[in-house]
Amino acid sequence: MHNLVTVNNVSDEFLSNVFSRAKEYKYRRQHSRPLWDELHGRLHNHLLLTDFFEPSTRTRFSFEAAMSYLGGMVIGTENAAEFSSFKKGESLADNFKVISAYCDIIVGRFLNEGEAQTAADSSMVPVINGGDGKGEHPTQALIDLFSIIEKFPNPEKLRISFIGDNKHSRTVQSLARLLARYTCIKEMVFMGAEEVNFSDEVFSDELFGIAKDHELDVVLVNTLDQSFIKKTDIVYITRSQIERHYFKGTLQGNFIFTNEIADMMPAHGLILHPLPRNSELPVEVDNNPRAYYFQQAHNGLFVRMAILEELCLNRT
Ligand code: CP
Repeated sequence: MHNLVTVNNVSDEFLSNVFSRAKEYKYRRQHSRPLWDELHGRLHNHLLLTDFFEPSTRTRFSFEAAMSYLGGMVIGTENAAEFSSFKKGESLADNFKVISAYCDIIVGRFLNEGEAQTAADSSMVPVINGGDGKGEHPTQALIDLFSIIEKFPNPEKLRISFIGDNKHSRTVQSLARLLARYTCIKEMVFMGAEEVNFSDEVFSDELFGIAKDHELDVVLVNTLDQSFIKKTDIVYITRSQIERHYFKGTLQGNFIFTNEIADMMPAHGLILHPLPRNSELPVEVDNNPRAYYFQQAHNGLFVRMAILEELCLNRT
């Protein structure tokens, strides 16, 4: 694989390599400083360029940390819209034609859906989509799946509930597409206010066509329906993506995932959130034994180290 723009072109081999490497890196980080330090040098002399047109905490810092721990180098901008010649009218295609001569791999975050593909088409080196508008966020989906497998190593008939601004969330788009491949996923429930939830049309071939060959129940609900919460294995919450629509969070009120609601989940349940969070996930939930979102964010370092290694060394 050359670029990582969408989960649709992530092969099983790539996924398996990334997850086994990420698991090993996590082990080294948590158990042995010398083993961790040994990783330094794996990407010696490789240069990562981060070109971000939207703000980020996790994606940019974890990629930059990942390349640094692997012994590579990092250059970039946290605000390409302001601090690159994009501000002077340079096109995204020209931007990537030029900067791809200065590095070995690029992580970009883009304002609009489809721009990651434009960037990849213009680049001479691999491009990783760090989020393009409401399009996709494939590395986040890999982190989410890695975190799910940590909790459910032998998954069987899992039910997952996506709660919040499903329609405008690129993390939901990528994770739902990725999970739809697997026969161990029995049910996906999408809960959100009607204005920001998926519509029936989305469940056409485009999003879930890949799941046609297995039984997958897909349910749309426009309330925070406790009957689903009580039997769901995984809750995946997202904030209102107020930068992409005009509802400005006004629809979030009926979808606050309180600790009382979290306790309705089965005891083995898992609560994920790609972060950042707003009022939809109160701080009181952090101490709930099902809460896993900070571990999920920490997993970002290991999964992104493995992704950089796979793509830079062109392993799969
Ligand atoms: N989850 C995620 O993409 O976070 P950032 O926007 O902080 O990168």
